[in-house]
Amino acid sequence: MAYKKILVPLDGSSFSKRAVEGAIKVAKADHASIILLGVVEIPPAAFEGYTEFAVNVEANVELKKKLYQFLDEEADNLRDKGLNTAVVVKEGLPIEEIDATVESEGVDLIVMTTHGRRGFSRFLLGSVAEKVVRTASCSVLIVRPTAPELKIIEGKS
Ligand SMILES: Nc1ncnc2c1ncn2[C@@H]1O[C@H](COP(=O)(O)OP(=O)(O)OP(=O)(O)O)[C@@H](O)[C@H]1O
Ligand SMILES: [Mg+2]
Repeated sequence: MAYKKILVPLDGSSFSKRAVEGAIKVAKADHASIILLGVVEIPPAAFEGYTEFAVNVEANVELKKKLYQFLDEEADNLRDKGLNTAVVVKEGLPIEEIDATVESEGVDLIVMTTHGRRGFSRFLLGSVAEKVVRTASCSVLIVRPTAPELKIIEGKS
C-alpha cells in the first residue's frame, strides 16, 4: 500500500518542523505529494460571539503572514528535493482544520511530531498531537524528535 497525500501540520515552531524529515522519507518512497498546513488559532469562544474573546483582526493578519512565510520556506526546501508541495493556511481550531483538510484533500497520512510551540512542558503528547492520534480518520505517523536518526540529522547540522 502506498500513501498518496501527506498532511504535515506546522504551528510555526522549529519543534514542529522536525516532522518534515519523516514526511520526506515517505513521500520519496511512495511518490506522494505533501500539504503543509498552518492554522492561526482562534479561541473557541470567539466563534460564539463573546466580545471578551473578540478576535484581534490586525494581529491575526500579521500571524497569518508570518505563518505563510514559515510554511513557504519549508515548501521551497521540499520542492528543491523534487517533491510536489502545497501550502495551506487556515483560521480556527487546529484539530478541526486538520480534520477538515484530511476530508477535503483526500489525505491518507498525517505526519507530525509530539509537541509544538509549547514544547515538552506538560504531557507525553501535546494536546493537538493527542487529539489527532485519537480521532484522525487516516493513518498518523508521530515523529519522536529524540529518535536516533533525528539525532544524527541534528549532529550533522
Ligand atoms: N496551529 C497549528 N497549526 C498547525 N499545526 C498545529 C498547530 N498547533 C499544533 N499543531 C500540530 O500539532 C503538533 C503538536 O503540537 P501541540 O499543540 O499538540 O503541542 P504543544 O504546542 O507543545 O502543546 P499544547 O497542547 O500546549 O498546545 C505540532 O507539531 C503541529 O504538527
Ligand atoms: Mg500547541
